[in-house]
Amino acid sequence: MRIAVIPGDGIGKDVTAEAVKVIRVVGEVFGRPFDLELLPYGADHYLETGISLPPNGSVMLRDEFDAIFIGALGDPRIPDMRHARDILLGIRFELDLYINHRPVRLLDARLCPLKDRGPADVDLVIFRENTEGLYVGVGGRFKPGTADEIAVQEEINTYKGVHRIVKHAFDYARARGLKRVCMADKSNAMTHGHALWQRVFEELTPGYAELEATHLFIDALAMQMIKNPAQFDVIVTNNMFGDIITDLGAQLQGGLGMAASGNLHPGRTSMFEPVHGSAPKYAGRNVANPMGAILSAALMLEHLGLHDEAAAIETAVRQAVVSHNGPAEIGGSLGTRETGDYIVGRLMAPMNHKP
Ligand code: IPM
Ligand code: MN
Repeated sequence: MRIAVIPGDGIGKDVTAEAVKVIRVVGEVFGRPFDLELLPYGADHYLETGISLPPNGSVMLRDEFDAIFIGALGDPRIPDMRHARDILLGIRFELDLYINHRPVRLLDARLCPLKDRGPADVDLVIFRENTEGLYVGVGGRFKPGTADEIAVQEEINTYKGVHRIVKHAFDYARARGLKRVCMADKSNAMTHGHALWQRVFEELTPGYAELEATHLFIDALAMQMIKNPAQFDVIVTNNMFGDIITDLGAQLQGGLGMAASGNLHPGRTSMFEPVHGSAPKYAGRNVANPMGAILSAALMLEHLGLHDEAAAIETAVRQAVVSHNGPAEIGGSLGTRETGDYIVGRLMAPMNHKP
């Protein structure tokens, strides 16, 4: 299997080094090594060459690799985030990775900021639409920089786009034997675009009679995720709302450093990244939590059909968390590298895998 690795910027480089270590070891342990190719795209490369992602970059990634792993993108020297948008949003849009799959799973009760909540209460998946909505860049600025400035940012919702993400949420719940799918929109205020979400949800619901399909307005959903996260199995929502509630979800599982994600198009080269950003002030200081990146690697292997390898990584991360063998974010005292080493050690422990 060929995997493109783009460590990117800031702590992205730190956590990716650990994810790479884990992927290599899991490949050896299971006797199925991975061919990892490190690619330089990120702020340094952009500032040196003026190239964020080469013109045919997405097509090259699609055609030459089975999966793409990204660390994080963002650098204060590029305030408009041009390179991050080109690379991250570029790959999402050009490869049509319409599913942003973001699990919210608490591994240890003590990591949850909510009172009296444990792993059984926080175990859900958020599907964020990943190719349209407010992220399409449609709009413009009229008289920019003046007192008369008008800024327009249009939200695009298509029948095809809404249908395929909502259908994926239902299909995922059915395939995993989960019971509940909640769709969140703001159709009480956004009466054009989100009426389409309502229509599609109503169209699809009867086809999944065994599932409990519910709807919440996004503000109420945010409240309910705090009030009682145990009520959710699968949440599906649009691009912007999904961006916001997955940061909320990350906190429920112990912080941004714990959260994993996959940008998927079933059957095509997909991209995996931790939810966190590049956190420049922590870069290179051996303090970032690599667990979200390592769990993103597990998601990637799962997507590639390597279920045992993915499960072994998840087990090793869970063992690290419950034994406090991790960075300060999980209440431990290990650095980024030592956390990676500990997880690698667990992976190599014979009772943790069945090669
Ligand atoms: C995310 C990030 C990105 C997004 C940014 C960096 C454009 O916040 O992956 O959640 O908004 O999608
Ligand atoms: Mn985000």
